[in-house]
Amino acid sequence: MNYCVIGLQWGDEGKGKVVDVLAAKSDIVVRYGGGANAGHTVIVGDERFALHLLPSGSVRPETTCVIANAVVVDPEVLTEEIEGLAQRSISLEGRLLISENAHVVLDYHKHEDRLREESLGKNKIGTTIRGIGPCYADKVGRSYAVRMGDLRDLDRLKEKLTRIVEYKNKLFGALYDAEPISIESIFDKCRSFADGLLPFVTDTTEFLHGAVAEDKSILFEGAQGSLLDLDHGTFPYVTSSNSSPLGMPSGSGVPAKMVDKFIGVAKAYTTRVGAGPFPAEQENETGQYIRDKGHEYGTTTGRPRRCGWFDAVAVAYSVALGAIDEVAMMHLDTLTGLDELNICRSYQIDGQAKTFFPANIDRLDRAEAVYETLGGWNDDITEVRDFGELPANAQSYVLRVEELIKKPITMIGVGPRRDQIINR
Ligand code: IMP
Repeated sequence: MNYCVIGLQWGDEGKGKVVDVLAAKSDIVVRYGGGANAGHTVIVGDERFALHLLPSGSVRPETTCVIANAVVVDPEVLTEEIEGLAQRSISLEGRLLISENAHVVLDYHKHEDRLREESLGKNKIGTTIRGIGPCYADKVGRSYAVRMGDLRDLDRLKEKLTRIVEYKNKLFGALYDAEPISIESIFDKCRSFADGLLPFVTDTTEFLHGAVAEDKSILFEGAQGSLLDLDHGTFPYVTSSNSSPLGMPSGSGVPAKMVDKFIGVAKAYTTRVGAGPFPAEQENETGQYIRDKGHEYGTTTGRPRRCGWFDAVAVAYSVALGAIDEVAMMHLDTLTGLDELNICRSYQIDGQAKTFFPANIDRLDRAEAVYETLGGWNDDITEVRDFGELPANAQSYVLRVEELIKKPITMIGVGPRRDQIINR
């Protein structure tokens, strides 16, 4: 079986845990988009792994990990992660493949991300400042882009970087009055990371097609969430890649029809980091309760996440974009202790009821969430492993969400540990 796991909200849905559970059944795990803006926490036993670039499967010594074409690779972060795992006796030698066509995030991208966000003031996007947008912009612009394969020829890379840094310095000086960046420091970093990373750099498309032909089981791991998709999310408050399921084929080079099952992951409520409309947001005690109980602070930036009720309109849209087969609902335990729970089942926009999510933010900004209210529960559910043993109101909650999004909820997260999951 080939699976693709995708976030159905604005990221941070708990995909890492689902991926890690499925990785146990897969030969290969593939990251196909985004970069070090993603943050996956994987908990194995008492050990906690915070990963940004490596696929979650990397903590399993028997899994092959692929970083495919559309990922933007920060060589510094990736090197740290590879070394970090090695220090914990987990080696990636011979089982990590990085696409030679993946683009490289360099210091001037992070610099540009920061300068641009600072200059935008209240109009900023609230990016992770990991250089993601500027790197993807260079990729689309083509003339000033660096790919992992470029690390193989350092003389040619130096020429290219000289041209790029000259251009960036003119731009940053003129637009932001910024100090020039030194070409030497950029080049030295590339040279120092090249040695460690080049053994992993290869043609991942060829590898993946070979794996498909050999009937290996492959797991495609989405980064961020569908609503942050550059083309189909809440633009401009999105990331710069196709983080919806639609990005999987272009990002990996493997057609979507090779995937047997698309599994969407959503939290039992909604969170969002950064700016942008969020109709079901609760800027009140309920929001704070969810934030504290669910530890809703960013893995990558530490920022407090905005929290709100489950938004069935938004999730149904993501389900439709990906022809999602099944849904994993995470963090159900976080809702324990609330007297009543609201589910957003439609929006009211300009006096009209809408159940199809408007990704256009002018309309989304005017959307008022319409809720239905269900009863809460107080019993601890973190050790429940059988759906029928959940409190009646918790069961009703899951079943109602299932009805609204019209897809089966086959996995339910009831705690952070890998085993804290109910399979239905
Ligand atoms: P960027 O991807 O750093 O350019 O940030 C663009 C938007 O996407 C910001 O609102 C970020 O907070 C959001 N974002 C990027 N990556 C993640 C993620 O992994 N989880 C949640 N939000 C993310």
